[in-house]
Amino acid sequence: MAERFYVTTPIYYVNAEPHIGHAYTTIVADVLNRFHTLRGMDTFFLTGTDEHGDKIAIAAEKNGQSPQEYVDRISKMFRDLWPTLDVENDRFIRTTDPEHIEVVQSILNRVNENGDIYFAEYEGLYCVECERFYTERELLDGKCPDHQTTPKVIKEANYFFRMSNYQDWLINHIKENPDFIRPERYRNEALSFLKEPLEDLCISRPKSRLTWGISLPFDDRFVTYVWFDALINYVSALGYPNGDLFHKFWPVSQHLIAKDILKPHGIYWPCMLKSAGIEPFQHLNVHGYWNVNAGKMSKTVGNVVKPLDLVGVYGLDPFRYFLLREMVFGLDSEFSEQALVARINSDLANDLGNLASRSLTMIQKYFKGVLPEPQAESLEDRELRDAALTLVDSCESVMVELSFHKALIAVWEFINQVNRYIVAMEPWVLAKTDKGRLATVIFHIYQSLKVISALIWPFMPGSAERLQKQLGLEVTGGKFTLDLVRKWGDGKPSGPVVKGEALFPRVETKSFPEPVKKSPEFLPEIDFDQVQKVDVRVATVLAAEPIPKSKKLLKLTVDAGEERTVVAGIAEHYAPEDLIGAQVVIVANLKPVKLMGVESRGMVLAASDENGVRLLSPRAACVPGCKVQ
Ligand code: MSP
Repeated sequence: MAERFYVTTPIYYVNAEPHIGHAYTTIVADVLNRFHTLRGMDTFFLTGTDEHGDKIAIAAEKNGQSPQEYVDRISKMFRDLWPTLDVENDRFIRTTDPEHIEVVQSILNRVNENGDIYFAEYEGLYCVECERFYTERELLDGKCPDHQTTPKVIKEANYFFRMSNYQDWLINHIKENPDFIRPERYRNEALSFLKEPLEDLCISRPKSRLTWGISLPFDDRFVTYVWFDALINYVSALGYPNGDLFHKFWPVSQHLIAKDILKPHGIYWPCMLKSAGIEPFQHLNVHGYWNVNAGKMSKTVGNVVKPLDLVGVYGLDPFRYFLLREMVFGLDSEFSEQALVARINSDLANDLGNLASRSLTMIQKYFKGVLPEPQAESLEDRELRDAALTLVDSCESVMVELSFHKALIAVWEFINQVNRYIVAMEPWVLAKTDKGRLATVIFHIYQSLKVISALIWPFMPGSAERLQKQLGLEVTGGKFTLDLVRKWGDGKPSGPVVKGEALFPRVETKSFPEPVKKSPEFLPEIDFDQVQKVDVRVATVLAAEPIPKSKKLLKLTVDAGEERTVVAGIAEHYAPEDLIGAQVVIVANLKPVKLMGVESRGMVLAASDENGVRLLSPRAACVPGCKVQ
């Protein structure tokens, strides 16, 4: 039986129109889902909309519509957007669906019967935007830290969920299952929430204040708190408790969210599941934020980038590629149109587009579009084949860990290797001198393109399928599984190889004024003696961890011929787990300094410009501690 895969996105609030943040999470889910299809798995992909609560009721009123009319309209915008982004979800759930409402009520009853719900009078500071009570301690100058508004004092009787009952269980569960919440920085963040005693969760709102919600099954005077309702979508969509889909997919569930909603997913949801007697989800995958113009993007800031606008300008696949290539999963990224265009022109038009176009042209020109039979394999051919097969394995291992950028980097290293192979083999010379050898070379280029087309399919399904059609392949898209890809050279094209239109046209950069080149302000000259006083060395990173309370600093343990601790201000640009094993360059004889309580012996060298910070490293592996001069 095929293995299974189940991925969810958050269900988006319908108080805002879809923007790049929603598009990112949903495209990531689509990429993961497609990749697991390639792995031959039985997959299920869920997205949808979150339609109850204060926020929505207020937005409906502002728009002069009834809540139902309003949620129908905005929910449809989300539902209609996904196919235009080549997102192929299996189900679109709405929390106003009658089946969902029924499941929420049945879970509430179950949790209540377990004795985990009680009724109590509560007075607290309530932020309407967040739809939650705050403690004084959590406020910043008396204001909600997210919305900078003064919470209202609300006194009311409500139902509470005894989340505190599950605190110890949850701490153990997170500790025993290191990849329950990942990447690690968010696992640590969840564990740090859990250092404080967990307060019980207020799960009702009196109908005197809010009617737009799911009635509590055991007290009709109240509606359910929107998070208690929304989180349940992940099981109600599968037909919990008896649905086949639930039995099939819940045991392999993976949630995708951004860091903004870590607490409800990492804390409330596992406790709710435990109380309802449902096994915990498998993974909570948490990514960072896309920032536009250096600010957090939200509709209140008013700098929302509409994904459709950019897709219309540059095409869908370049947009999907850019999002997945640019963001390190777990860290924040800066969105820039200029960076998108740079990637289109270099990675897509230049590297991949040119490779495809020159290869297809050669097959047409030298072999009339019919793939030739190879002859004896040379060392170079074997190297190319080995690199392709290793690439498939390495993509598989980084993709399941959500390192999309690493998978794409690896594919592009291979694309460049094929381009170098073409240059070294000089098929245009072989065409005149050695047809047999030419056939072998062309055969290997063709097989390489086949591998590339499969690996880019999850990211850029449309372009990959176009390339596969041009290659005359019979099985295309998600049916071209990794198992088939691993059979190098197996199977003939079913049709002729035909070069079609360019896969990725270049983008004219005229509209982007070239940055004015100013010569940098260099420092005054120094003598060679002075240069020699700086002891620069290569070091291998053995361990990397964030420094508590510091946004910028990472503590690196490096092997520089001897083991040392070096503190580097790169936390906003590199995930600690990505640095392990990497080689960096350090100034080794800088006087030790203490940074946020950690003694740093040395300084890591990095280049920085408006696009960010990049560590320097040797082009090939060096003996740790070797001198740089
Ligand atoms: N309705 C809740 C989720 C309930 S899930 C049971 C909600 N909705 S939301 O519309 O605010 O969506 C939040 C999610 O949108 C984030 O977790 C993330 O997936 C995505 N993003 C919104 N803005 C984003 C960025 N600027 N960057 C990246 N993703 C962001 O919370």
